[in-house]
Amino acid sequence: MVRVPRRPLVAGNWKMNGLRSSTAEFSRIVEGARKLAGVDLMICPPATLLVLFAAAAKGTSVLIGAQDCHAEPSGSFTGDLSAEMLKDAGASAVIVGHSERRSSHHETDADVRAKALAARRAGLCAIVCVGETRAEREEQRALAVVGTQLDGSVPDGAIAENLVVAYEPVWAIGSGVTPTPTDVADIHAFIRQRLGSRLGEEGQGIRILYGGSVKPSNAKELLHVANVDGALVGGASLKADEFLAIASVYGRQSRNIG
Ligand code: PGA
Repeated sequence: MVRVPRRPLVAGNWKMNGLRSSTAEFSRIVEGARKLAGVDLMICPPATLLVLFAAAAKGTSVLIGAQDCHAEPSGSFTGDLSAEMLKDAGASAVIVGHSERRSSHHETDADVRAKALAARRAGLCAIVCVGETRAEREEQRALAVVGTQLDGSVPDGAIAENLVVAYEPVWAIGSGVTPTPTDVADIHAFIRQRLGSRLGEEGQGIRILYGGSVKPSNAKELLHVANVDGALVGGASLKADEFLAIASVYGRQSRNIG
């Protein structure tokens, strides 16, 4: 059986950061991306910048993602955005179930699955986030928690084109603390196995990102772990130099620079 290798993806989650003036920093990322081959780069800006960034990335390999979507395609949902709207604004992916939304917006696994299905309906790839809290890890429940989140949040029939999983231990997000490479290997192997038993061969092609305090200084040791197919980067994605340094862990310098 010939297995297509998973192409690494380094995605930047800008969270609630960025104004129109940030287009200059984004353009530096687009410029730098021209010099990297063998890795997909994506920036997920706040929704207010989607159209602007999509225009700036046009004709380049840099992908644009959104940070959340509503499950319905349209309707009376003041303040929400549908997956169709995000696609229309230039996104090709959307993060769903980020721990900040699971905690401050009380999103359940069922909500996250509905959003992932909405993404698929609109032709977007859903980046489904899972991860345990510090207390859950200390109680040796990390695998059980992540397994339950995966089972509840990943829709049936998911394939590599419409699903990416991001493992983000809640205690590592924005804290500067990361799991050891061995811990990352264990949980990513577990996620890979769980996706395989649920989705069969398709589960092998789905990319599993690591997220939580990824920086240029730790990218090499975290992102070359088995079954780590890239990173979801928060704080360090706001600076082009740092984001590109992380991505360069995978990227070969392309020959035709320019
Ligand atoms: P961080 O955030 O890289 O700032 O820890 C990661 C995330 O929340 O996706």
